[in-house]
This record gives sequence, structure tokens and C-alpha cells, in this order.
Amino acid sequence: MEERKTLYSAIQPTNNLTIGNLIGAIKNWTNLQNGYDCFFAIANMHAITVRQVPAELRQKTLNMLALYLACGIDPEKCVMYVQSHVPAHAELCWVLNTLTYVGEMERMTQFKDKSARHAENINMGLMDYPVLMAADILLYQTDVVPVGLDQRQHVEIARDIAQRFNNAFSPTFKIPEALYMKVGAKINDLLDPSKKMSKSAENPNGSVFLSDDRDTVIRKFRRAVTDSGLEIKYDPENKAGVSNLLSIYSAFTGKTISEAEADFAGRGYGEFKLAVGETVADRLAPIQKEQARLLAEKDYLDGVLRSGAERASKAANRTLSKVYKKIGFFQL
Ligand code: TRP
Repeated sequence: MEERKTLYSAIQPTNNLTIGNLIGAIKNWTNLQNGYDCFFAIANMHAITVRQVPAELRQKTLNMLALYLACGIDPEKCVMYVQSHVPAHAELCWVLNTLTYVGEMERMTQFKDKSARHAENINMGLMDYPVLMAADILLYQTDVVPVGLDQRQHVEIARDIAQRFNNAFSPTFKIPEALYMKVGAKINDLLDPSKKMSKSAENPNGSVFLSDDRDTVIRKFRRAVTDSGLEIKYDPENKAGVSNLLSIYSAFTGKTISEAEADFAGRGYGEFKLAVGETVADRLAPIQKEQARLLAEKDYLDGVLRSGAERASKAANRTLSKVYKKIGFFQL
């Protein structure tokens, strides 16, 4: 049997996920877990590069785990773990720091953005963020890294650092490839359909969060902007709002766009928006229920994380000890 490729991805437990994340990232991961050896980390070490409330960070870590399990990520197939449970991440990061230049970190787009947004807290961790992410990926001899396009520069720098280490010492790290996730259906903001739906939009009424209750979901869809005219027709150029709602409906029902149009032929915008809202709410309800059920099963969640940390540590330490040998750390 052909050896399976290794896939690595991580998510910060601070993210307030939207239905766009569900349709894009999470659904993708549940498909990918069948074809790859997968590692999925909850990146709490990355999270503290901006100030967190400790009790909230702890709770969000478990919320995130429960959400992924509720969405169908299978801990038998994937290694799911918390980044800080595997000390090799911090250890490799330190070594890789010595192969990374201050200038190249200062030029990273996300560092510049976050420095502007958190001008009072431009800490070393924020600047080192890409090196820690390179350590995450390289520790597992990763073949593919499924990420959004916003992470392109980070995967590029991980490849550069790996190459640099391999050239300076000898081949040690596999050079990873990014797998850019085409958001199944591109989901836009309900109030400004020219923009992508975002977890950090100015107006939270334009984004539907996976944690929104039924009434909130329906209220947000009822207030979604539509367009002048009366027809429920997919035409992103001229009818951005209606087209976005049709995309969401199609993503949540598995129907094609033309089937979606047919479902609403001759009906009014009000009825249409309500129907899309109900469809989304119906789909979120079982996920939220399962997430809540899992959150009450503390021992089960602990077990998943304990087993994840063990399996991740084993793989990570294999790479780390090679690295330590090559760079001349005296071994006991
Ligand atoms: N920086 C990523 C994000 O914000 C999260 C992340 C941390 C990650 N380490 C990673 C993603 C390793 C892929 C691989 O989305």
C-alpha cells in the first residue's frame, strides 16, 4: 500500500467561526481526513501573541475542540491536540529563529497589519509568529498544509526556512506545499455583500457565527441586504445580495444554484430571506447540540487531547532529535 501523505493544519482558539468557515475550512478538513495522515492543532501559543483573557482562552480551547468533533472530525483518524502540550514546538522554534532574519520578519504582511492594530503591544512573539508556525509544520515532516490564502506568506517562509536548514546542515525537513482552500461557495457579508463574511467584521450583524442561536440567525438573514428588483436570480454583478443568499442556500442544502433559483421562483424577498435563515439555523442546530453535549463530557475531551498530545509528541520528537544532532547539541 502506498504510504499516505501527511497533512498539517492549525487554528487559533480565539477565532469566532462563521458559516463561511464551516463551508470552507471545516467541511474540507472532514473530507481530507480520509486521504491523509492528519494533524490538527489548536494553536494557543500563537493566540497569546495578542493579549488574551486567561480563563477565556482556556474555555475557547475546549470549545474549539468540541466544535471540530461535532462537525465530524474523527479523533481516530486524525491527531487532534493543543500546541502547548507538545514542547517540541517551542524548542524547534528557538532553533529556527537562528536561521531567520529580523528584516524578513519585519516585512511580513500580517506582522505589519497586526502591529498597526495593536500598536501598544508589538511584542517579540508577534514578530516571531511565522517562525513558530514554520516549526509547527516542519516538525511533522508535512507534505500539505491546507490554509486560506491569507496564510500564503507564512507557508512560503516555512518552506524557505526548511530549505535554509537543509542547505546549512543536511536534508532534514520535508518541504511542505500549501493547499489553498477554495471556499466551497464563497460566502459574503450579509450587509455588505461585496465583502467576504469575516469573523472580525465591523458590524457583527453581517456575519453569521456558528455559535448564533436560531433567533439570531433568522434575524440576521431577515435584515440581509437584497437588491432593487424583484427576481430571485443568481447574478453576482448586479444582484450581489440575492446571489450571496442563493450561494449560502446552495451550500447548506447541497442543491445547485439553478435548483435553488427554482425553489424560489415567483416568491418575494422576505419569504426568501426567511427560508435561507431557517435552512442555516436547521443545519447549525445539531452541530451546536453535539458541541454542548461534548463540552459536558470533560473526561472524553481530556482523553482526546491526552492521546493527541502523545501521538503528536512522538512524531515531533523524532524530528527534533534529528535537528539537535545536526546542529551540534551534545546528546546524553
Ligand atoms: N496562522 C494560522 C491562522 O491564523 C494558524 C496556524 C498556526 C497554522 N500554525 C499553523 C496553520 C500551521 C497551518 C499550519 O490561520
